[in-house]
Amino acid sequence: MLVIKPPPVLEGIIKPPGDKSISHRAAIIGALASGTSYIEGFLESADTLSTLKCMKALGAEIEGPQEGRLVIKGQGLQGLREPEDVLDAGNAGTTMRLLLGVLAGQPFYSVITGDQSLRRRPMGRVTRPLQQMGAQVWGRQDGELPPLSLRGGRLKGIQYTLPVASAQVKSALLLAGLFASGPTTVIEPIPSRDHTERMLKAAGAPITRQDNAITIEGACRLCPLSLEVPGDISSAAFFLVAGCIHPRARIQLLGVNLNPTRAGILEVLEKMGAEIKIKNIRESSGEEIGDLEVSSSALEGVEIGGSLIPRLIDEIPVLVVAASVARGRTVIRDAAELRVKESNRIDLLALELNKMGAQVYPQPDGFIVEGSGGEPLKGAEVDSHGDHRLGMALAVASLVARGESTILNSRCIGVSYPAFPRDLARLGVEVREGN
Ligand code: S3P
Repeated sequence: MLVIKPPPVLEGIIKPPGDKSISHRAAIIGALASGTSYIEGFLESADTLSTLKCMKALGAEIEGPQEGRLVIKGQGLQGLREPEDVLDAGNAGTTMRLLLGVLAGQPFYSVITGDQSLRRRPMGRVTRPLQQMGAQVWGRQDGELPPLSLRGGRLKGIQYTLPVASAQVKSALLLAGLFASGPTTVIEPIPSRDHTERMLKAAGAPITRQDNAITIEGACRLCPLSLEVPGDISSAAFFLVAGCIHPRARIQLLGVNLNPTRAGILEVLEKMGAEIKIKNIRESSGEEIGDLEVSSSALEGVEIGGSLIPRLIDEIPVLVVAASVARGRTVIRDAAELRVKESNRIDLLALELNKMGAQVYPQPDGFIVEGSGGEPLKGAEVDSHGDHRLGMALAVASLVARGESTILNSRCIGVSYPAFPRDLARLGVEVREGN
C-alpha cells in the first residue's frame, strides 16, 4: 500500500518513463527484424517485461534492459520458433493482442495466457478477424477469453473495418498482415494511436495510409531499429493533473511524447483552464516530443466525447480526478471501453473517489462529475483494485485531500510506472510504502 500526505507545495522536475506502447512495439518489431536493433529509453515495467519474456520464448535474443538500453538480435520474419511453454502476457493487453497478430502468422502451435484481469478481457475482437485471415484459434467462450491457443501460418490478407476504436486490434491485424499473401487493409472509423504504423514504416515495411484506411503488404524482411523511446504522456498525465489541482504547484515534465493521437489530455486540460506551457518541441525517432510546465490552475468542468476519446482513453481516470475538484459539471461520453480495461474503470473509479468525498456518477459510457469548485477532498482508505491507472489517479486525488490517504493494492503501479512513488517524493510529497 501507499500512504500519502498532501504536501504544502508541489514542485520539481520529472522525466517521465519511456512510452509503454512504443516500448512494447519496439520489442516485438525488433524481434521480427533481420539484424540487431538498439533501443534507448525502453520502459522497464511489469507490462513491457512480459513482452520481452514472450519474445525470448519465441527465440529472440535480447540483452537488457539496463538503464533503458535494450539490444535485440532479431530473428527475421521467418525466424521465430515454437515456444516450449505457455506464453504469459501478465497484466498486459498490448502484449497479448499484438502477439496474437504475430502468432497468427507462425506455422507452429502456441498458447498465450495472462493474469486474472487479462483473462477476463475481450479477445474475440482480435481472434475473429485473425480467423478470417486463416489462423486457427481456440479459447474459452469460443475464442473470446484467454488462455488462447493458435496454429497460424498461410494467412491471406483481408479488408477489415474495426467495430471499436482500438490501436491494439489495428496493430494485431497489421502485424499479421506482414505474414499474409495479398494486402491487409484495416479501416479505423476513429483514429487511434499510430505507433505501430510509424515503427513498421521505419523498419521498411510496405505500409501506407489513405484517409482512415491503413494497408500493409506481406513482407520478406524488416530492417532493425535504432530508436529512442520518448517519455510516456499517459504517465506524465498524473503530474499534469497534480500540478493543475494542487494550490501551490509548479512541475516540469521533460521529453514527453506529443504524438497527436495521444495528446488529447493536453487539449482537454487547456479547455478546462489549465496553466500548461509546452516548450522545446522537437522530433525524436519519428515522434514529436516536448517539455511541459504545469502550474496551479483554476479548472472548470468540461464536456467531452466522440473522436477525442481514443486520444486520451488511458488518461480518463486522472481527468475524472481533475473534474472532481474543478468548478461545475464535467460530462464524459463515448468511453464505454473503460469497462473492459485492466478493471472496470467506470464503476471502480467512481466507487473509490466517492470515498474521498468526490461526486462521481458512473454512466454506461462514461461519467458525470460534479466538481467541488476547488474545495479539497477528504483523506480516506481507497483501493486500486489491482489497476495501475486507478492506483495512480487515487494517489493524485490524495494530494488535494484533507488528511492522509491510504491506497491499498498499490503494487500494480509497477505495471507501467515503477518509479511513480519515488517521483512523487521528488516533488516534496511524503509517501510511505507498506505491505
Ligand atoms: C494501447 C491501446 C489502447 C490503450 C492501451 C494501450 C496500445 O487500448 O488503452 O493502454 O498500446 O495499443 P485499446 O486498443 O484496447 O483501445
